[in-house]
Amino acid sequence: MADEVQQAGTEQAMHPSFLKVLGQKQEIGKRLSGIKHKIGIYSAKGGVGKTTVAVNLAFALSSMGFGVGLLDADIDTPNVDLFLGMHGLSNPEYPLKPAVKDGVRVISTAMFVDDQRKPIIWRGPMIGKMISEFLGNTEWGELDYLIVDLPPGTSDSPLSIMQLLDMDGFVLVTTPQHIAAVNAIRSGRMAKRMGIPIIGVVENMSDGSARGAREVAGSLGCEVLGLIGMDRKLDEFSDGGVVAFLNDDLVRREFEAIARKIAG
Ligand SMILES: Nc1ncnc2c1ncn2[C@@H]1O[C@H](COP(=O)(O)OP(=O)(O)OP(=O)(O)O)[C@@H](O)[C@H]1O
Ligand SMILES: [Mg+2]
Repeated sequence: MADEVQQAGTEQAMHPSFLKVLGQKQEIGKRLSGIKHKIGIYSAKGGVGKTTVAVNLAFALSSMGFGVGLLDADIDTPNVDLFLGMHGLSNPEYPLKPAVKDGVRVISTAMFVDDQRKPIIWRGPMIGKMISEFLGNTEWGELDYLIVDLPPGTSDSPLSIMQLLDMDGFVLVTTPQHIAAVNAIRSGRMAKRMGIPIIGVVENMSDGSARGAREVAGSLGCEVLGLIGMDRKLDEFSDGGVVAFLNDDLVRREFEAIARKIAG
């Protein structure tokens, strides 16, 4: 693969590790060629609701008639399976086949671990290797949207995903608080530096003021896609492995509005 890349252009002087990433990226690109749009859900700050937004947005897009996949890219602390109540449903044979939940194709490393409470403890290089294995070996087929639930931080895991996946754009998640907004702005700047456009920002656990979302949108020059209110029921659905979008009218309306903006 490195040879192919070298022949392709002016990369003769490139460092071997860079060529390796380019080669992996080409392989992953081939594997994901049936996917029209790849959208990352991201914030460097933990716990703001990335997974909540990723899961419910995936089902919102699916309800609009789109073919949707949901990739849990939080390789070492996967949560999507818990949100969907679908642990251990997939077959660990290569190429990996996503499990299907109410029409949405889903993959998470948690599906291949026998005990959800067991920690996955890996150093940076191992995380990078797992991410590229995971991305390069999942057979998604044809999809309109792949929603990618990113891990928090701005280092190894999100960086590998940004390098390896040709993303169409990121949806940033913040809460109303200034601290969350600052971290979302930091995340947006990282994405832009990696050449990934910002589609817009969602304010989760919102009090309706949109102060966090407006701070992010003002700083990055992006759109406010919508607000998701602080909602105990949403939390209870997620904790119970039930998709709130499919079971709660308010949550459905909030995510439909965001999905319409994204699809538009
Ligand atoms: N709007 C909301 N109202 C009430 N609870 C919420 C809301 N959004 C998320 N939560 C709860 O907050 C917790 C954190 O949410 P979530 O796991 O989606 O965050 P995250 O950003 O993905 O976290 P991490 O950085 O660990 O991946 C979860 O228990 C979730 O159910
Ligand atoms: Mg998460």
